[in-house]
Amino acid sequence: MERKALLALAREAASHAHCPYSHFRVGAALVAGEKTFVGVNIEISSYGLTLCAERAALASAISAQAGPITQVAVACIDAPADAPLQECMPCGACRQWLADLAPDAVLYIDGSERDFYIEDILPYAFRL
Ligand code: THU
Repeated sequence: MERKALLALAREAASHAHCPYSHFRVGAALVAGEKTFVGVNIEISSYGLTLCAERAALASAISAQAGPITQVAVACIDAPADAPLQECMPCGACRQWLADLAPDAVLYIDGSERDFYIEDILPYAFRL
């Protein structure tokens, strides 16, 4: 799928985020097999149990047994346009999920032209 189109899906998904505490909306969209899946960050009153958008999208694709995940896009629509890239990079937990469940995927971050691979963002990843 075209990079731009997948990022647009991630942005659209982000508008459905449930983040009453941080008000920081994140959307993820991915391609698995022939299909696309989206996820949003979901915050609950016990803050530490928050689910990130990336893991929500990965869980959805894995639940559907959709096949190998080849592309992942992430959009943080509340990050200021001039925010540092770090503000929209996957957190540590999401990087491990990506390493396990989408090890060969290319990662697009909204606002960056760069293509990332898991080796770039989680070198020496834990694996079993
Ligand atoms: N968040 C994500 O959805 N993905 C990440 O990789 C980093 C952080 C969410 C969690 C929380 O709802 C909000 O962003 C602020 O931390």
